[in-house]
Amino acid sequence: MYVNMPETSPLPRHIAIIMDGNGRWATQRGLTRLEGHHAGFKTVHSVVKYLGELKIDYATLYAFSAENWNRPKEEVSGIFRLLNQFIDKETADLHKNNVRIRWLGREEHLSAALLAKMNRAVSLTGGNTGLTLCLALNYGGQQEIVDAAKRLVADKIAPELIDERLFQSYLYTADMPGVDLLIRTANELRISNFLLWQSAYAEFYFTPVLWPDFNREDLDHALEAYSRRNRRFGGL
Ligand code: FPP
Repeated sequence: MYVNMPETSPLPRHIAIIMDGNGRWATQRGLTRLEGHHAGFKTVHSVVKYLGELKIDYATLYAFSAENWNRPKEEVSGIFRLLNQFIDKETADLHKNNVRIRWLGREEHLSAALLAKMNRAVSLTGGNTGLTLCLALNYGGQQEIVDAAKRLVADKIAPELIDERLFQSYLYTADMPGVDLLIRTANELRISNFLLWQSAYAEFYFTPVLWPDFNREDLDHALEAYSRRNRRFGGL
């Protein structure tokens, strides 16, 4: 039985975004990849604002995957510098806009300072009732499933008690609805280890638009395409 049945209403309740194309956007302009990521963060700011206005309940953004550590060292440290700045600069504003911040991922390899900063942002905004903004950071879908399995074993759960509902309660996203709409920019047609369990019945929307160029109109197009889909969840 599929748990966490996604929405059938015209607006998705949970949107997941793979923000791809920062590097290509920069290269096309003769800029450094880091400048592309900088532009990508600006897009995050405006898209999150719009998601809040649209009254979307959950948005999960793939900020840094468990596999992104394989990038050149300077790019990785640059992305983390930008992430630190993003949390420093945006948390108060997000809080004012009733956004609840969460993060999904493994703590390993993240600096104590960043973890503390994120935990402060999560607890400051924990009582907010608007958009829940999940930052997937040092995140991998397979890793998340493995972590859930480890915790089930650590809790000595009897195999006959394990079903989809119980398993899900051990995921990072335990209390969240499944993904309704998964958007990926920059013409890549992959899921790249993102929200594997949660996307079981997600609708996919791919666009050639590079993430730094992605704007409100592009999100409108994705929402419009979503509203035209006929979601059957395996039924007729
Ligand atoms: C993909 O572009 C982007 C990333 C690897 C992550 C960069 C981070 C952000 C856009 C902002 C996230 C911030 C928050 C706060 C959620 P790419 O480098 O893979 O581009 P390419 O495929 O063109 O090289």
